[in-house]
Amino acid sequence: MFSTAFLDVPPLTSAGGTVFLPGSKSISNRVLLLSALSQGSTTLHGLLESDDTRVMLGALRQLGCEVRQTGSTVEIDGLAGRLPHPKGEGTCSLFMGNAGTAIRPLTAALAVLGGDFELRGVARMHERPIGDLVDALRQLGCQIDYLGQAGFPPLHIGHATLKLDKPIRVRGDVSSQFLTSLLIALPLVAQKSIVIEVLGELISRPYIQITLKLLERFGVVVKREGWQRFTIAADSQFKSPGALQIEADASSASYFIALGTIAADHRNKIRIEGVGADSIQGDIRFIEAAQKMGAQVESGSSWLEVSRGSWPLKAIDLDCNHIPDAAMTLAVLALYAKGSSTLRNIASWRVKETDRLTAMACELRKLGATVEEGADFIRITPPASPDHWRAASIHTYDDHRMAMCFALAAFNPAGLPVRIEDPGCVAKTFPDYFEALFSVVQALPHAIPVICMDGPSASGKGTLAAALAKALGYHLLDSGSLYRITALAAVQAGLTLDSLQEQTIAALATKLKIEFDQNLVRLDGVDVTAAIRSEEAGMNASKVAAMPQVRLALLNLQRGFRQLPGLVADGRDMGTVVFSDAPLKVFLTASAEQRAQRRHKQLISNGISATLPSLRADLQARDARDSARSVAPLKPAQDAKLLDNSDLSIEKSLALVLHWWQGKQPFGAI
Ligand code: DC
Repeated sequence: MFSTAFLDVPPLTSAGGTVFLPGSKSISNRVLLLSALSQGSTTLHGLLESDDTRVMLGALRQLGCEVRQTGSTVEIDGLAGRLPHPKGEGTCSLFMGNAGTAIRPLTAALAVLGGDFELRGVARMHERPIGDLVDALRQLGCQIDYLGQAGFPPLHIGHATLKLDKPIRVRGDVSSQFLTSLLIALPLVAQKSIVIEVLGELISRPYIQITLKLLERFGVVVKREGWQRFTIAADSQFKSPGALQIEADASSASYFIALGTIAADHRNKIRIEGVGADSIQGDIRFIEAAQKMGAQVESGSSWLEVSRGSWPLKAIDLDCNHIPDAAMTLAVLALYAKGSSTLRNIASWRVKETDRLTAMACELRKLGATVEEGADFIRITPPASPDHWRAASIHTYDDHRMAMCFALAAFNPAGLPVRIEDPGCVAKTFPDYFEALFSVVQALPHAIPVICMDGPSASGKGTLAAALAKALGYHLLDSGSLYRITALAAVQAGLTLDSLQEQTIAALATKLKIEFDQNLVRLDGVDVTAAIRSEEAGMNASKVAAMPQVRLALLNLQRGFRQLPGLVADGRDMGTVVFSDAPLKVFLTASAEQRAQRRHKQLISNGISATLPSLRADLQARDARDSARSVAPLKPAQDAKLLDNSDLSIEKSLALVLHWWQGKQPFGAI
């Protein structure tokens, strides 16, 4: 999960491989609530772990529901349609974050059951309309008050006096979630049959289909007459289906379907596991739209395989009312089409996580596209030629879909990187989106950025490199640890660390089984984190590091760390030898006195005794050996930036290096 301020996606060239997608958001939150309202226990497999489901699970627990969770499997003991008497006095206050799929059905269910509840969310949630649902619920006698602006959360829910004999009217042209919410709530009080009438044209019908199919799985039958009238049978009761497998999210699949459409060869397709073309989710029909634009798609019961068909893609003019969320992905596909594409009937974009119509238009323009934004449509004309593409820093508006679909702009023909601001916002539905993306895309090797951080022992480069990698979301290579591990393995094998053994040690270095796992280092499965950190291990490392054959043996291993989205590499010869084409090389120094003191502090805090004079002598000996050796001696690369951090805090050094890095990027300042 990337929780950095921004993520720079390097220019990408091709895609291929298999992705496993998280569970559907729409299905996950519906079945969580249905399980909680049911009689009996339900085991849900493949539940989406995301902000929205966390909000729902938190609320259910607060309402007295017993929930046991192991990874993506959740077991819920249903409340059999009754809320247990809340412990203690006062209002039960539920925090709904920005989770529309949680607040709406919960509002309806709690309102018909009645009680003393408050539902609040983040600022954006308080701007997302809920008035039509509240109006419908008030008609049938529910007690709901607005605590802020009328028509919007936060809400207070009180005790209801229900009148269910007349049809309940709800508007269907703002959000289908209002109807879904009534469909889920009303079976709780359907002693007699209940009729719901939809006012206006019902939008996002596929989501209603999902609701109806899931209600059926939980034992409730709804008679549908067209899209205007829904009748809930008398004496309806939610009954647990026992166990339920949640389909992978079809909206999440849209990014990978698009990825295959843009960049996968038919001999190495993008395979998506967890959802097939016969999915109950409406967004699966994104496939048809992608096919219209040129995608080649094959499908099985719970998988899809996608590759590029026509190229450039064909422009489309499409009513997207049936795929409102996935249509955002079409907007980015349109960047690769010949001519202008028009996506119509998408007014609902304006009331989602952000005003997606305006947001989409603004960010597409930053990339160089020509965009016309209408009240309920968007028309996109791609940049006229590679020269017209721009390197853009994409603002994501706390909207997961903005972040996910714009990453696909990294396939631009101009070979420009794309900056995604606040990449962590994907947590709403797909926390590991970028990891999944990077596992199935390729970039030209030199397009993957490397920042080299070389310098003498105890100059602080390890700490600075780690901080830099964290700030940028990059991988980290502590190359010194590879020499330390090699030396340790040689000593364990009973070898002396002199030139007579050079060949044997080099052979050993090519076969090392090393794992870097968070802060742990394992050699042949054994934790060697502490063993390689001693002063003796450092000295031994310096000895094997002077052997040309050992250095050569470790070269490919080190270069293998250059992976998407980028790498920070610390060592002695990162800039001079291993990554000589790196766009930024820093040579970090500090006075000998400072370095000895830092090392002293580090050792003492790790419970290792040491004296300053002996450390100073050790450091001098190592520096002398590292600088005097015949291959890759310690010295700054010609194009390295020198940084003496003797008097700088780590924060100051980090800010300076980040500033240098920004200066190399086409996006401007942070
Ligand atoms: O950075 P460190 O103290 O963990 O490195 C241990 C030894 O390995 C150091 O004395 C020099 C050597 N080394 C090297 O020669 N080249 C590198 N890229 C990294 C470390």
